[in-house]
Amino acid sequence: MRILSGIQPSGALHIGNYFGMMRPAIELQAKGEAFYFIADYHSMTSLFDAAERRKNTLDVALDFLACGLDPKRAVFFKQSDVPEVCELSWLLSTLTPMGLLQRAHSFKDKADKGIPVNHALFAYPVLMAADILIYDSNIVPVGQDQKQHVEMTRDIASKFNEQYGQTFVIPEPQIREAVAKVPGIDGEKMSKSYGNTIEIFGDEKALRKKIMAIKMDSRQPADPKPDADQNLAIQLLKVINAGTGQEFEEKLRAGGLGYGDLKKKLFEVYWEYFATARAKRAELAANPDYVNKVLGEGAMKARAKAMEVLKRARKASGLE
Ligand code: ADP
Ligand code: TRP
Repeated sequence: MRILSGIQPSGALHIGNYFGMMRPAIELQAKGEAFYFIADYHSMTSLFDAAERRKNTLDVALDFLACGLDPKRAVFFKQSDVPEVCELSWLLSTLTPMGLLQRAHSFKDKADKGIPVNHALFAYPVLMAADILIYDSNIVPVGQDQKQHVEMTRDIASKFNEQYGQTFVIPEPQIREAVAKVPGIDGEKMSKSYGNTIEIFGDEKALRKKIMAIKMDSRQPADPKPDADQNLAIQLLKVINAGTGQEFEEKLRAGGLGYGDLKKKLFEVYWEYFATARAKRAELAANPDYVNKVLGEGAMKARAKAMEVLKRARKASGLE
C-alpha cells in the first residue's frame, strides 16, 4: 500500500497542519510505503519570493523530521526534484474539463476575494493529481480542505483509464474527522493565509501572548457555562489532548473555571506537547547537510517510481 501526501512551503507550519495532516501521515509511515513531499512547485502559484521559498522549504523539512517523519521508513523529498510530474500534469490536463477546474475551491476562493489568479493556480488540481497518480498512491492523508482535490484526482484518473486503458491506481483520501478542520485563534479554520495560526515551532513568549489574547465572552468565572463545548480554547485543548480537553470542558460547564486559567492551561498543554519535537528540531537545524542528504536520497527513490508510471502513461496514450 502506498501512502502519499504533500505540504506547501508557504509559511510556518501550524497545529492545524500538524493534527490534520502531519500526525496522521507520520502514523501511517509504519503501515505501508509512505511518500511525503514538500510541494514547492505548488507554492509558486502564490509565493513569488525565491529566498523565502528556499527558507520555507528547509523549514518544512526540519518541521516534518522533528515531528517524527522517519526517513528510514518514509521517502521524503522535494516535489521539484521529480520534474516528471510536470509532464504527467500535461497529459492529465488534456482530459480535464475546464468546468471541473472552475469549481475548485482553491481557485474560486481566491478569485472571489479579488486576488489576481494566474494560470498555474487554475491548473493547481491537475498538478496535484499528477503528484498523486505518478506514485501509484492508494491513500492520501489530508485535512478537509484538500478533499475536493483528491476527488478531482479520482475523476481525472478514471477519465484517463477509460480513454487509454487501465493506467492509474484510483486513490482514496483519508481524513480524520475529529481534526479535519482545526480552528484558528479567531474561530475560523486555522490557515497560514488567515493570520490566525498557532505555529508548531515559534517563540515561547509570542505564542503565550497569542493564546492569552484569544477572545472570550464576558461571563464571570463562577457562572456555569452549558455551551462549554463551543468554547474555542476547549476545542483546541481537545485537539491536542482529548482527555484534558474533556476534563476542562466539564470544569467550564460546571462553573468556577476562569477563562484566563483555561487559556493558561491551553498554552501549557500545547507547549509541553511539542517539547520533544522542539529539542529535535534545534538539533536538526544545526545540521542542514543531513537534511539535504535525506531529501536527496528521497528524490532518487521517488523519481525511480515516477519514471516507471510516467512511461506507462506515455505508452498508453500513444506517445511511445
Ligand atoms: P494552510 O491553509 O495553512 O495554507 P495548507 O493548505 O498548506 O495549509 O495545508 C497543508 C495540509 O494541512 C493539508 O493537508 C490541509 O488539509 C491540512 N490543514 C491545513 N489547515 C488545517 C486545519 N485548520 N485543520 C486541519 N487540517 C488542516
Ligand atoms: N495542495 C496541498 C496543500 O496545499 C499540497 C499538495 C500538493 C498535496 N500535492 C499534493 C497534498 C498531493 C496531497 C497530495 O496542502
